[in-house]
Amino acid sequence: MARADLLKKLFSSFKQDNKEMFYAVASEIIEDEKKKNHGILADDLKLILNGNYQKKSINTLSENTPRDKDKDMPLIEVMYPEKYFSDLILSDNRIIQLEQIIKEFNNWEVLVSNGVFPTRRALFYGPPGCGKTLAAQALAGEIGIPMLYVRFDALISSYLGETASNISKVFDYAKKDSWLIFFDEFDAIGRSRNDSTEHGEIKRVVNAFLQQIDNYKGRSLIIAATNFEQSLDYAIWRRFDETIRFDMPSHDEKMKLFELKMKRFKGPVHVLEQYMNELEMFSHSDVEKVCQIIMKQCILDGKKIYTKNDIEQAVKKQEKNVSLRKTQY
Ligand SMILES: Nc1ncnc2c1ncn2[C@@H]1O[C@H](COP(=O)(O)OP(=O)(O)O)[C@@H](O)[C@H]1O
Ligand SMILES: [Mg+2]
Repeated sequence: MARADLLKKLFSSFKQDNKEMFYAVASEIIEDEKKKNHGILADDLKLILNGNYQKKSINTLSENTPRDKDKDMPLIEVMYPEKYFSDLILSDNRIIQLEQIIKEFNNWEVLVSNGVFPTRRALFYGPPGCGKTLAAQALAGEIGIPMLYVRFDALISSYLGETASNISKVFDYAKKDSWLIFFDEFDAIGRSRNDSTEHGEIKRVVNAFLQQIDNYKGRSLIIAATNFEQSLDYAIWRRFDETIRFDMPSHDEKMKLFELKMKRFKGPVHVLEQYMNELEMFSHSDVEKVCQIIMKQCILDGKKIYTKNDIEQAVKKQEKNVSLRKTQY
């Protein structure tokens, strides 16, 4: 985040219609971000100033992107998430924990110069569809840093030793800038070291990963997400400064999520309350699916207002998906 004095100057220059001053302050902000090791943000700001900026909300790949040798697949995706806390419905406690991470990240230098470290590694865990990936995106969005998205299944190679080399390629790449490095589907690597299946390889992989996060000194936030926290062993848990559980939504959170997602349409929002029994096993993602079913129906029927019947049909439809999913496990 740019310093308060620079922001004030920037606003005054706009108000005074003083282009020269505006450019001077903008350049100062760019330099300031560079110093903080926010190279990508600094480059983006420069491009915006010069009028050559193309929005990069989708992932970008370059020649330097580390790849798996065998599968010839990129190991990472660079993303510029446009998600914020306003997109998230979570309990107040979770929001407080996430805000704390941001506060510490934004005060990195102050903390380090006083001999304490900000939260640098967090573990997000809990059932699928409850916002782990979304929260990581929102953190990146709120802090204003790009996300280095890493899927574990992409890292794991069938060739002996190649997995460890993939992990170090990712961390080498990460050294270049300040990121939110997000290891999604962490379950694959975090499987207990006591697991007898694939014992040798998994052990090597876990050790390589732990070593890398221990050695990583960059100004980045490392977040790993898993649906299967039971399978993580103690050695992994204690490597994280912060562990955050993402729970299934409460009734209240389901209502808030429904309202948030349906805000472009009109209808009897509170009718959803009558279906809380049916929604018992619904994750945030399932509630969102209900909204999508209703919205799709409205769009196809050319109407702006949905009815109680639309809600009922959508809940029933998604209920089927949820029970199908349950029988699969
Ligand atoms: N807490 C939440 N608040 C708002 N939307 C959510 C939340 N959790 C999940 N969603 C919706 O469901 C989708 C999938 O959630 P995701 O973050 O991928 O879940 P997870 O990573 O926990 O499996 C998200 O893109 C979002 O649209
Ligand atoms: Mg996810």
